[in-house]
Amino acid sequence: MLNFEFYNPTRIIFGKDQLEKLDQQIPAEARVLILYGGGSIKKYGTLEKVVEALGNRKIFEFGGIEPNPKYETLMQAVAVVKEENIDFLLAVGGGSVMDGSKFINLAANYQGDDTLELLTSQDALNSISTSIPIGIVLTLPATGSEMNKGAVVSHKMGKYGVFSDLSFPKFSILDPTLTYSLPATQVANGIVDTFIHTVEQYVTFPAEGRFQDRAAEGILQTLIEVGKKTLDNPEDYEARANLVWCATMGLNGLIGAGVPQDWSTHMIGHELTAIFGIDHGKTLAILQPAIWQVRRKQKREKLIQYAERVWQITEGDDDQKIDSAIEKTRGFFEELGIKTHLSDYDVTAEHFNMVLENLEKHGMTKLSETSDLDLSVSLEILEKAL
Ligand code: NZQ
Ligand code: ZN
Repeated sequence: MLNFEFYNPTRIIFGKDQLEKLDQQIPAEARVLILYGGGSIKKYGTLEKVVEALGNRKIFEFGGIEPNPKYETLMQAVAVVKEENIDFLLAVGGGSVMDGSKFINLAANYQGDDTLELLTSQDALNSISTSIPIGIVLTLPATGSEMNKGAVVSHKMGKYGVFSDLSFPKFSILDPTLTYSLPATQVANGIVDTFIHTVEQYVTFPAEGRFQDRAAEGILQTLIEVGKKTLDNPEDYEARANLVWCATMGLNGLIGAGVPQDWSTHMIGHELTAIFGIDHGKTLAILQPAIWQVRRKQKREKLIQYAERVWQITEGDDDQKIDSAIEKTRGFFEELGIKTHLSDYDVTAEHFNMVLENLEKHGMTKLSETSDLDLSVSLEILEKAL
């Protein structure tokens, strides 16, 4: 097992009717900024419940954080934080709102001249020493942002990962019933996102992380069990609760501690979102089968383990097992209603140069658990994904 540090200070408050507990989690005198997206929380009554739970606290609102939150939008919220002396951020939404809130906190506390530096400079991030507490009310299970220190912010044609210990939420309320209103395509995106977070920390090379492997396999098997079920019956509480918990556990640092990680699917996927506007989860479903085909040599042992332990494939030789596991994975995504080829999204080989140029511009030229996935391999992957 590799050396590691594990730190995660976020309190999870899970289950039905847990919104009531907001009152215990936020100081009575707090000036609270409620952050949200395009309005789903108004439409489905979540905002009303949140406001009620906050009682007499001084409340401000900032809505309009778009999917793949834009730097410019978030900076408007930073102005509100400063003008109104906000001392508590309450993010009510999915990954975009949670990530946006984390960035708003960092930018509001940054003393440097150019806030844009926070997108690319870890030194700039490390210089921040003060912070506003963030609370979360989750409405979309997918990113794990509710229990991690990451945020992804969009600026021009790029998506930037911003990581800081100051971004761990103080608490996250995970009430699965608040996710019932999600459209099927967002539920499917969330299942795929969780699946891919898990395999990117699992299908690498063996490192004797036995607990981590079995925890990852547990998440993957649970997703396979409940994925279609929760899509077909959105109000099946147990199925949805399992999805929500898997999404959180998939990216809170637990399964990735002490094992190699390969984030190529996400890094190439981010470029597909930035250039073509394809949903985050869908980019991953397109790329993962292609990446495994192209990287089957490097990932051989773990792909065989994945085939045998997650899909219970016992027939055939090792190569047949790998092929069969890749096809079963593709079938699982397709069954959720997610198309898995670039051509399904009108992306053709003529677009590949643009993707490669963006990868180069963002320094994504040595990807994978072995840092040998260069632009020529990315091209091979894109070709396979057509
Ligand atoms: O904006 P509203 O009106 O709220 O609608 C949203 C949005 O249109 C809707 N929605 C959310 N909850 C709903 C709902 N609609 C009905 N009922 C509800 N309960 O869903 C749409 C998508 O929301 P978004 O937050 O964009 O989705 P997701 O949670 O998939 O987040 C994607 C973002 O997270 C980043 C992605 O790059 C992307 O920007 N990621 C963040 C990570 C992290 N912080 O660790 C890791 C991930 O890999 C990912 O990269
Ligand atoms: Zn993701």
